[in-house]
Amino acid sequence: MPELNALEPEEIQKGLESARLGKRIHYFPELDSTNQYAFHLAKAGGEEGEVVIAECQTRGKGRLGRSWFSPPGLNLYLSVVLKPRLPPAQAPRLTLMAAVALAETVQSFLGAPPAIKWPNDILVGGKKLAGILTESSSGAERLDFVVIGIGVNLNLPESALPEEIRATATSLLMLTKKAVDRAAFTRELIRSLDRCYGELEERGFPGIAGRWEAFFELKGRRVRVEMGDRQLGGTARGIDADGALIVEEEGGALTRVIAGDVIPLEP
Ligand code: BTN
Repeated sequence: MPELNALEPEEIQKGLESARLGKRIHYFPELDSTNQYAFHLAKAGGEEGEVVIAECQTRGKGRLGRSWFSPPGLNLYLSVVLKPRLPPAQAPRLTLMAAVALAETVQSFLGAPPAIKWPNDILVGGKKLAGILTESSSGAERLDFVVIGIGVNLNLPESALPEEIRATATSLLMLTKKAVDRAAFTRELIRSLDRCYGELEERGFPGIAGRWEAFFELKGRRVRVEMGDRQLGGTARGIDADGALIVEEEGGALTRVIAGDVIPLEP
């Protein structure tokens, strides 16, 4: 008999009714990284929609070579394999699609909309609740597969946060003061990803981009963008058809940002 809040596949799949995602869930008490596992799975012929979940990650990966804090039993660490018929340059659309699915799921559990920080950090009250790391493999013309990795702080108490992220991270428990049913959250997230992926495929990017922008609080605000050893300052204007961030620099030049960290310069 699984405990009420367990993340076992059978519990997540109860009433899932998705078109493609989550028909097969690979569940592990511990993994180095669910993205790493899903990447190898996809390479070895894993199918579209297969999901990998771990209770804990020993080498959870974050964006830009960072690590992702992944203690056992409290949060969600999930990766899903997608095989879209898209050229490699359109891979960022999938990351933004996942950010919309995640933001909408968070909203339904929180009762209020979170903010998306470009490209895909989910923030509440300026603190990070969830992140997405997309990794892909592609030929010249088409993506072979994409792994979308999602980490969400669910039942993480403030006391369990390491010092270095205490000021910048939050969890649903910290925000609502109530424990979340992790299986229910995971089911809703897979359902939401399945729906948004279908919409992207059938109707293209504009609808998803519009929903993404509704969560984008930095639109029209002054930002600094850090791109390795380069920096850029200006006003965040939104995203383009490829999902790149458009920043209007002083003097009016519009610059596309493909990868980097966005830091707000005003409250
Ligand atoms: C970020 O830096 O904001 C992205 C964090 C992504 C973390 C998730 S947890 C599940 C999946 N497996 C990983 O190793 N990373 C992603």
